Amino acid sequence: MTTIAFDIYGTLIKPYAIGQLLQEILGAKAPAFNQLWREKQLEYSFRQAAMKEFQYFTHCTKMALEYSDAVLQTQLSEANKKRLLEAYRQLPAYPQVPEVLQSLKDQGLEIVAFSNGAHRDLIALFEHAEIVNYFDQVISVDEVRTFKPAPEVYQLLAQKAKADQDQIWLVSSNAFDIIGARAFGLKTAWVRPNPAAILDPFGYESTAIIKELSELVSLFA
Ligand code: 2OP
Repeated sequence: MTTIAFDIYGTLIKPYAIGQLLQEILGAKAPAFNQLWREKQLEYSFRQAAMKEFQYFTHCTKMALEYSDAVLQTQLSEANKKRLLEAYRQLPAYPQVPEVLQSLKDQGLEIVAFSNGAHRDLIALFEHAEIVNYFDQVISVDEVRTFKPAPEVYQLLAQKAKADQDQIWLVSSNAFDIIGARAFGLKTAWVRPNPAAILDPFGYESTAIIKELSELVSLFA
């Protein structure tokens, strides 16, 4: 048995898709806001893990929204903040996702969602994106009350996956996640649409590098 564990935000689900709503609300400031919001959301997850102060990833998203609003002086109304946070629970999947997940399932692989997102938020997200039925398991880091790339999260994946550890692959577009998984000892497929992107110099290489998700079908054939 081989288990394929998919990172979610930025790998199967488009976090930047919220740009359209931001554009409607903020106009020209939307791209800068979108970038800062995602960067601070992840930074806050790293800091909460380091401080051993776990709150759901939704809280990182909310704090990052507040920070971006204050720093960029966009003066978002409470109603618009609520709209943006609600939209975060209704982000779309990348177009290839249903076909690729179905093909991998047909190949007899275990398909797992593996994310910082809170379990209930992930289910809501997958139901809205109509991909919930492709997953054999949905594994959220909230079970171990820390965030990627802490080793505890990859340990949780290794414990819950059907496959033995040497047959577990993490598929992620996020370099910090690839490096964390390799440091723990999992195989990885880094989804790297921009060939100029590089992994941070932690001394780990990804087992495989793909430009788009559809390459997974031949990788695991
Ligand atoms: C995840 O889905 C945040 O992309 C990261 O775990």
